[in-house]
Amino acid sequence: MAGNKTLTMIKPDAVRNGHIGAITNQITEAGFRIVAMKLTQLTQNDAERFYAVHKERPFFGELVEFMTSGPIVAAILEKDNAVADFRTLIGATNPAEAAEGTIRAKYATSIGENAVHGSDSDENAKIEGDFHFAGREQFDY
Ligand code: CMP
Repeated sequence: MAGNKTLTMIKPDAVRNGHIGAITNQITEAGFRIVAMKLTQLTQNDAERFYAVHKERPFFGELVEFMTSGPIVAAILEKDNAVADFRTLIGATNPAEAAEGTIRAKYATSIGENAVHGSDSDENAKIEGDFHFAGREQFDY
C-alpha cells in the first residue's frame, strides 16, 4: 500500500527568488496537508549526509554547494499516495522536461537549481522526514 507522507524542501534558489508563498500555496491547493515545516539552512555535513546516495555522481560537489548556499523550507506533507502525487505536482528533475503548470516548470531555473525536492519512495520519505524533524515537530491533526 502506498504511504501517505513525503518530504519536500523548497530549495535555496526558490527561497531567494521569493517563491515560498506561491509554492506552499500550490502544494496545499493540490490537497497536501503540512504536518511539519521549518525555514532552515543545511550545513556542508547535513547536505553530504542527506545526498549520500549521490556521492559518486559528478554533480555531487555542485549539489552540496548549492543546497548549503542559503535557507531552505523543509516540510513533511500528508496525502493519500503522497510520494507519487507530489512528484507529479513538482514535475521532472530537469525543468526543461517538466510538464506545464508543475512547480519546477514554473519556478526552477536548471537541473541543479530546480526549486523543490520530493522524496522518491515511502522508505526515503520516512528517513528524510526524520532527518529534518524531531518527533515532537511532526504533527498528526
Ligand atoms: P532532487 O531530485 O531533489 O535530488 C537530487 C538532486 O541532484 C536533483 O534534485 C538535482 O537538483 C540534482 N541533480 C540531478 N542531476 C543533476 C545534474 N546532472 N547536474 C546537477 N545537479 C543534478
